[in-house]
Amino acid sequence: MRPADDPALPPAVEPGPTLRELVWGVERAADLAILADRLGPAARREGEGLHSRDPTGLALGFRVMAREAAPVRLRQRNQGDHRGRVNERLSAYGSPPALRIVHCAYNIPRAANEAALAFWCGPLGFKPVDKVLDTGTFLQAEGDVEHHNFFLCFRPDRAGINHIAVELWDFDAVMEAGNRMIEAGWKESRRPGRHRLGSNVYRFVHAPCGGRLEFVADMDRMDKDWQTRVWEKNPGHNIWMIRSSGPDPAGTGD
Ligand SMILES: [Fe+2]
Repeated sequence: MRPADDPALPPAVEPGPTLRELVWGVERAADLAILADRLGPAARREGEGLHSRDPTGLALGFRVMAREAAPVRLRQRNQGDHRGRVNERLSAYGSPPALRIVHCAYNIPRAANEAALAFWCGPLGFKPVDKVLDTGTFLQAEGDVEHHNFFLCFRPDRAGINHIAVELWDFDAVMEAGNRMIEAGWKESRRPGRHRLGSNVYRFVHAPCGGRLEFVADMDRMDKDWQTRVWEKNPGHNIWMIRSSGPDPAGTGD
């Protein structure tokens, strides 16, 4: 995060705090050369990286990223006759680590959607996983298996940041991370639940750097055999969402 008036930042596509440059990691320097070739005059080299803009003006960066393997932590589970965890108690994660930024969701006015899709699916090589004709398009980066790494989300008035999603270990980690943010004074922006497209559990809080922050776990993964699904209407945002029968101001459940 940097101050909005930092002269080193690319111009903003919307007023207020927002995403000023979206930087993508690539595996090898050769990948940068391929992207530079595909983007042609729309890209410029700077230092070790490559820079461009999408059709809405959003600044994009590409650089070789030495990605460290995220620590996998799978809790053993008990269910019926299955005894996965015996003589062992669970404890809170406390401060579960972010495994990685797993996707960015970007608001796109409908009139600008086709040009944006042509850019992201053309020279950038993204693949639509789910195309929802009244909502937006979930796009997967070339070579990845996540349900989406970028989501072009319809919004009538302007392009700009919608949210950045961070992957955590599991459901408990997502709930605990949200609690920690709320304890620190951040505001939750929707009730926790599990998405229908992507299947991930989620928790959203408003972010001071613009848009929202989404904590995510257990998202669908689609490999190269996945065929794009086209939905006339959004099949629904959630498989389930937390409902409450009434306020519990103390939050103790007593
Ligand atoms: Fe998301």
